[in-house]
Amino acid sequence: MAKINQNYLQLQGSYLFSEIAKRRTKFIQDNPQAAIISLGIGDVTRPLPEAVIRSLHDAVDEMADAQSFRGYGPEQGYDFLIEEIIKHDYAAHGIQLSNNEVFVSDGSKCDVGNIQEIFSLDSIIAVQDPVYPVYVDSNVMAGRSGDYNKTSNRYENIVYLPCNAENNFKPELPTQKVDLIYLCYPNNPTGMTLTKDELKVWVDYAREHNCILLFDSAYEAYIQEKDVPHSIYEIEGAKEVAIEFRSLSKTAGFTGTRCAYVVVPRELKARDEEGNEVTVNDLWNRRQTTKFNGVSYITQKGAAAIFSDAGKLQIATLVDYYMTNAAIIREGISSLGIEVYGGVNAPYIWLKTPNGMGSWEFFDKLLSEANIVGTPGVGFGQNGQGYFRLTAFGSRENTEKAVDRFKKLSL
Ligand code: MLT
Repeated sequence: MAKINQNYLQLQGSYLFSEIAKRRTKFIQDNPQAAIISLGIGDVTRPLPEAVIRSLHDAVDEMADAQSFRGYGPEQGYDFLIEEIIKHDYAAHGIQLSNNEVFVSDGSKCDVGNIQEIFSLDSIIAVQDPVYPVYVDSNVMAGRSGDYNKTSNRYENIVYLPCNAENNFKPELPTQKVDLIYLCYPNNPTGMTLTKDELKVWVDYAREHNCILLFDSAYEAYIQEKDVPHSIYEIEGAKEVAIEFRSLSKTAGFTGTRCAYVVVPRELKARDEEGNEVTVNDLWNRRQTTKFNGVSYITQKGAAAIFSDAGKLQIATLVDYYMTNAAIIREGISSLGIEVYGGVNAPYIWLKTPNGMGSWEFFDKLLSEANIVGTPGVGFGQNGQGYFRLTAFGSRENTEKAVDRFKKLSL
């Protein structure tokens, strides 16, 4: 019999969002009349912006004509999209990038899961706790995590950086040697952010301690406040130490259409076993050209349309829609005396469960009494215990209904 990758047996339970979906399905089977409102997984509900739709249609027509038909495209993405990304997401903010530093992909989940492959298996990784589960699980699969300790509910070789109300959800610097640090801002799940000065502390730390920051910025479009950086490269020296992940999923409604990108600056170096310097960008390029055939031409054409004047306006409207939902949830829930975080620069609201309830206990109560699906904070890590996440990505009607139902809960 073939042997499996034993590391997979170290994974704990099922993937968080699959577990939630399973419980939701079971509840619906038992209560077919329940009108469930889903504010669990951060999946968007508004349609694609009109500029994107038009561009997608045009691209489909191009594929129907032998003269404009496209087969395999560049694995890194088409220049027409990369140039728009650089111009609008970076150059407009004073950050210069070359085309070969941007890699278009089919999603940040894949990118943040795959990036660890190009680093040594003995790299020590640090993650925020609570954390988007993909960072941890992809390293477990690779064999970097060590054993799972059932007492601490943590992997032995992973360094966890607690983020809780005491530190205002801002992690302390690691106290032991780490090689790769995953940072997510605006944060999923807490919805909190770092200021430019606070992010600079991490960049300076990484430069001083020779580590690499894996900066997940999938929710960048939701930043409202002025002192919150949009890109880690706004910080001096960050190109030497950071990889940045961005996504169109939450920015432009691409969760089903799939398009994201990664920036791997040419300045970013790591070392091989002999201590020689290696350009990380070359390795990621090698990885992508081997394992990935690029995002479809049609999708990239649709993606490029978000940078048109019309596209930008339509995206601003989308963001505004979801951020109004966030405000409705924040205000509605805090009016009940419940502690609420996030929802100001991010589409996630992180709340302290009432009466010291455990996260899953509160999940079950909310589902059975209010027919609302949310995400238990503990699913993101030990520091999420006693917290609960709601997304602002529902429809306005469902968001308002959910807040009303919340207010009627017996707490
Ligand atoms: C979430 O709910 O945390 C996200 O939607 C998951 C994802 O983007 O993969």
